[in-house]
Formats: sequence, structure tokens, C-alpha cells
Amino acid sequence: MDSAPMVSEQDEEQKPAPWSRSKKCGIFSLLLFVTLTLVLLIGSEVEKANVRAASSTLYFYETPAVCGVDSTNKAVVTHVNASEASKMGNLVAHCGDCGFCSNYNDINIYNETKETLTKTSTNCATKAFLGGSDAVFDCFKEDVGFTDGCNDCWTENVMCDMKKCVFTCLKMILTGQRNNGGDGELNDCLLCDEKLCGPAFIECAGANRRRSGIVSDIGRDDLNEICTSVDDGWRWDLE
Ligand SMILES: *[C@@H]1O[C@H](CO)[C@@H](O)[C@H](O)[C@H]1NC(C)=O
Ligand SMILES: *[C@@H]1O[C@H](CO)[C@@H](O)[C@H](O)[C@H]1NC(C)=O
Repeated sequence: MDSAPMVSEQDEEQKPAPWSRSKKCGIFSLLLFVTLTLVLLIGSEVEKANVRAASSTLYFYETPAVCGVDSTNKAVVTHVNASEASKMGNLVAHCGDCGFCSNYNDINIYNETKETLTKTSTNCATKAFLGGSDAVFDCFKEDVGFTDGCNDCWTENVMCDMKKCVFTCLKMILTGQRNNGGDGELNDCLLCDEKLCGPAFIECAGANRRRSGIVSDIGRDDLNEICTSVDDGWRWDLE
């Protein structure tokens, strides 16, 4: 069959092309994949170096200050140490200074979700990619139920992670790393969060799980980090 007259010049030019469209597409995807993997690896190495250079955050757990409950005013108040709190007749709600999460609603949530909160917050953190901080805030509000002030602390923490730990944490999500490695050490994403974003978070929140004496789904050095000064029954003083 002589179809030559039907073939335009353009078609003729395309014929000798070495690769078909699907091959080109495949090669493009491969290059994209390799580039993204390299960006992820290099980015997470840079973040890791920043983490290594950051100082320890243990002082947040070694401070003698406690957050006590003033039963008369139904309010939390920071005391220099536990004996000062008890001298004033106030029960200790958690170790360290009081903050926006120092209330019954939020500490009770820490307690009731201790096996799942890390996973839920990782899920809420992924909303930041498309929806920014508003989407993260809404996700925490819906899936967790913190008070708004405490919710702001958690949201700001996620936005900090997005800035300082994003490659490390993407790597964790993509490779399905556990919270703790074989020797009980934190995974790189949690360690990055702890060292680079933890201080601002604790100052905002006051109460986190360790300071509230709650052993969570993240393995810890219990003796050094989990607060042991919490007085049972403090919550009734807030009602
Ligand atoms: C607690 O703080 C008070 C006031 O600063 C101080 O006099 C006291 O010795 C402290 N108690 C303990 C056990 O550190
Ligand atoms: C956590 O919940 C348990 C069981 O419901 C309770 O005994 C414990 O006092 C709670 N701890 C805190 C810090 O709320």
C-alpha cells in the first residue's frame, strides 16, 4: 500500500526518533525518582548535622520547677520546686513550668491516647504539605481534641518540623521507621523534633507527656525524663 502522500513532513521527522514516548516517560520518571531520592538523602544529612550540633534538651526535664494547681482559684501556677508547691497546699500536675497544655482536658488526652498520639500527629503533620498550618490545626482539633491554646503549640511544632526536620521525617515516613531503634534510641525524625523544635514546644505547652508522668509510645530514658512528682488527684482541684 502506498501511503506516502498521507505522511506529513513532521511525521517523517519523528520516525527516526530513538525512543518512543513511553520510553521517554520512563526515563523521565527514573530521573525524577533519582533526583528526589538524592534531595531526600542530602537534605536529611544536613538536618542530621544540625541535630548533632544542637545542645541536649534534658534540662527541660531536670528543672526542679513544677506546675501546681491552686484549688482556690482553680488555676495552674508554676512553683520553683515541689516542696514550695506542697507548702502552698497545691498538688503537682506536672514537672516544669506551666503552659498552654497545663489543664485537665489536654493532660487527660495525653493519658488516654498515649499509645496512638505520635502516629496521629504524624498523620496531621502530613496535612501541612497541602494545607499549611490551618489544615494541621484542624486535623489536631478533629482527631485529638486539644484546647485551642494547646492545639496552637502542637501546630507550631509541626510547622517547625516542616522547616527543620522535613527531609528526615519524610524519610522516616517513606521507610516506615519505628519510633525507637533496636537499642531504644529515638528515630532520626523524633530526635530532630526533640532537639530542634522541642524547646519552643515545651515552653509553649508546659505539659507534654513525659512532664505529666505518662509513659508514651515513644521509648524513653524513664529515670531521667519521666516526671515522678505528679500528685494523684490534682485534676479534681481544677473542677
Ligand atoms: C525549694 O525552693 C525554696 C525557695 O527557693 C528553697 O528554699 C528550698 O530549699 C527548695 N527545696 C528543695 C527541696 O529544693
Ligand atoms: C491515666 O489514666 C490512668 C487510668 O485511667 C489513671 O490511673 C492515671 O492516674 C492517669 N494519669 C494521668 C497523669 O492522668
